[in-house]
Amino acid sequence: MTVHIGAEPGQIAETVLMPGDPLRAQWAAETFLEDAQCVNRVRGMLGFTGSYKGNRVTIHGSGMGMPSLSIYANELIRNFGARTLVRIGSCGAMQKHVAIRDVVIAMTASTLSTPSRGLFRELNFAPCADYGLLRNAVEAAERKKAVVHVGGIYSSDVFYDERDDLSEQMTRHGVLAVEMEAAELYTVAARHGARALAVMTVSDHLLTQEALPADQRERSFGDMVEIALEAAFA
Ligand code: HPA
Repeated sequence: MTVHIGAEPGQIAETVLMPGDPLRAQWAAETFLEDAQCVNRVRGMLGFTGSYKGNRVTIHGSGMGMPSLSIYANELIRNFGARTLVRIGSCGAMQKHVAIRDVVIAMTASTLSTPSRGLFRELNFAPCADYGLLRNAVEAAERKKAVVHVGGIYSSDVFYDERDDLSEQMTRHGVLAVEMEAAELYTVAARHGARALAVMTVSDHLLTQEALPADQRERSFGDMVEIALEAAFA
């Protein structure tokens, strides 16, 4: 047990999928895993361990934003031996050619700041995905005939962003989409020699103001869970 994860030693798998929403973790575990058992409920942040095609896997919520994700990623890696962490979530598109429902796989994640900022001080560390996981995820997405974009994303600390000028610079520099967790996941994984990847579906579009209707979010989310599982165990 740790401060934020009530699991017993050995109850967390080496491979962990991390949706932001704990209820999505429950839905994904009940839908895609065999013999899923709840291993964490502390503060309502649900985690489940089961198996996928014979491979042990945990699906654990990260909460929203990098400070929350950082707590869970640190404890999963340092205290429970997680070695492969895949974020699954939603993002807002920042390019015209990226559409609602498309899959975005983050090669890198730009930030203003992460919870790791204090460690790097004057250095602009470049958080980047594990290449093997990234390659597997692209192949899995293509097998599903998903429209997939691979490139840089922006991990923001704010959902209600007032910095239009910064968003414009991101778009100008080819950043595909914005979300709120990947940069810290990549950074914490790098620090501990673990593998990390973020696979997201586009839920809203910053340039066109379109948004994915609530009833269609579940299906896109399911595709992403399968892409993440296939990537982890390819
Ligand atoms: N901003 C930040 N995070 C997000 C967004 C957004 O527009 N959409 C989905 N996650």
